[in-house]
Amino acid sequence: CGIVGIVGRAQVAPLIVDALKRLEYRGYDSAGVATVAAGELGRRRAEGKLVNLERRLKDEPLDGTIGIGHTRWATHGVPNETNAHPHFSHGVAIVHNGIIENFAELRAQLKADGFEFASQTDTEVVAHLVARELARGVEPVKAAHLALKHLEGAFALAIMFQGDDNLIIGARNGPPLAIGYGEGEMFLGSDAIALAPFTDSITYLEDGDWTVIRRDEVGIFDMDGNPVDRKRQQSLGTAYMVDKGNHRHFMEKEIHEQPEVISHTLAHYLDFAGGVSRKLDLPFDFAKLDRLAISACGTAFLSGLIGKYWFERLARLPVDIDIASEFRYREMPISPDSAALFVSQSGETADTLASLRYCRKADIPIGAIVNVRESTIARESDVTLPTLAGPEIGVASTKAFTCQLSVLASLAIRAGVARGTISPEKERKLVRELSEAPRYAGQVLRLDRQIEKVARELAHYKHVLYLGRDTNYPLAMEGALKLKEISYIHAEGYAAGELKHGPIALIDEHMPVIVIAPHDRIFEKTVSNMQEVAARGGKIILITDKKGASLSSVETMETIVLPDVPEIIAPIIYALPVQMLAYFTAVFMGTDVDQPRNLAKSVTVE
Ligand code: G6P
Repeated sequence: CGIVGIVGRAQVAPLIVDALKRLEYRGYDSAGVATVAAGELGRRRAEGKLVNLERRLKDEPLDGTIGIGHTRWATHGVPNETNAHPHFSHGVAIVHNGIIENFAELRAQLKADGFEFASQTDTEVVAHLVARELARGVEPVKAAHLALKHLEGAFALAIMFQGDDNLIIGARNGPPLAIGYGEGEMFLGSDAIALAPFTDSITYLEDGDWTVIRRDEVGIFDMDGNPVDRKRQQSLGTAYMVDKGNHRHFMEKEIHEQPEVISHTLAHYLDFAGGVSRKLDLPFDFAKLDRLAISACGTAFLSGLIGKYWFERLARLPVDIDIASEFRYREMPISPDSAALFVSQSGETADTLASLRYCRKADIPIGAIVNVRESTIARESDVTLPTLAGPEIGVASTKAFTCQLSVLASLAIRAGVARGTISPEKERKLVRELSEAPRYAGQVLRLDRQIEKVARELAHYKHVLYLGRDTNYPLAMEGALKLKEISYIHAEGYAAGELKHGPIALIDEHMPVIVIAPHDRIFEKTVSNMQEVAARGGKIILITDKKGASLSSVETMETIVLPDVPEIIAPIIYALPVQMLAYFTAVFMGTDVDQPRNLAKSVTVE
């Protein structure tokens, strides 16, 4: 979900819709825009995609040089027009991201005060709270401030008033919100990408900040009403063109960008020419750590899980890894000699941020592997370890994942060097092997015709099982996650050795099994698991390398043969066929690949 606000010079409704389009990648299921024209509030809202809102605006245009807009991803109340933002109450218009946790209590109070609710959203209480202050004779800015004090939970808000075409109030406690500075016009947006067409001069609000925006002035305050100073920065968002190029979908474009962005990311951490990992300015010493905690959500979690294998194997550093929504409540005892790493594409995921804050309280050093450098998680960590993937627009993460892996592999080498488990020769070898990753990734992309053919088959099934051992086990889970996210085919990823402890009961000719098995140290074990599947009539799609293909005697429905690659880069390279398989299957299924139903790119709520 996303927010845009403009106190502008020209007609703003079309500009707001354009900015909302740039936030489409976050996922949404309804959208709306409101303006003030001739002192009156007006709004248009529509369920579904932004084209519906555009159509609505074409039939009934909305005048005005000030406005707020919103794309909504439903939390409270189904995605329909009534629940779509902006919400109105007696001359107050409001858009909101996040969840107002005490909304039931506030709703009851407001109802007792005679306010009527038009929607089932938690947002409407905010509009009524502001309206209640106005009705008590309080002026708009003060009314908004008083209303904000009642709110608990996570929110980014934009508020506008009937009769004032030179005032938007923004507030942030959780989901990001940025002010954009123009010449005689000002902007508010969920991120720099939304504001890129208007300005590259940005200030991100901090949690607990609220802001008063007029054409020629901006004030930022804390909850006590004291002015606060926040850094104005040049946004990086504008440096990138956010379009699909020649690709059908952003996801396809992002899959194809991988050789390049993996190479940028690796070069940031490794000195290829010198054959060494670069020194990093870390807030901890790998040599002195007794444990490392890693926490993340979704695809980022799975990259962390692969990282665990690397840190433990290469650096003999034990890793505790958790899904962030579990970590934050698990009350894990934290060793004072440990450090924590958080992995996040957006850098805004609420659960990951909460886990970070839990570690902050435990007073251990914190690193963040993030793709958005201005994000909250980046700002709250002691060191930012960037992935250089560029903006990722497809909701299903692809290039961010392989860049996360590139950072984790580089860090594990760094850790091994510091802990004396990696000799200079071994470091040189590993760095050289990693430097080959972009080239191999490029080769794998050329298998697209074959993978498309396999996907055409896969699209006929309702259930798919992914199997892998070692680092291919998290990859099996990532394959299953990608497939279910975008094609809506039920899929599960399992450790191949666990097959006989349950999932084998499901095997028949209706459930294809995708086995990810490069010829590695435990290839033979995986072949045995494949035999178990084949013996029960299961159909196997094997993703392996040349050596593996020549050694496996198991009959497969299809074998996708990758080049023989060094072990350290296998997870990065094998991620590609797994992503491509999900992508092509979704294309055959005719789903909305870049914005799958019910999913959001940036999950700023619990
Ligand atoms: C959402 C996205 C996933 C992503 C996860 C974590 O569920 O749809 O693609 O992996 O959030 O997001 P993050 O921005 O923290 O990596």
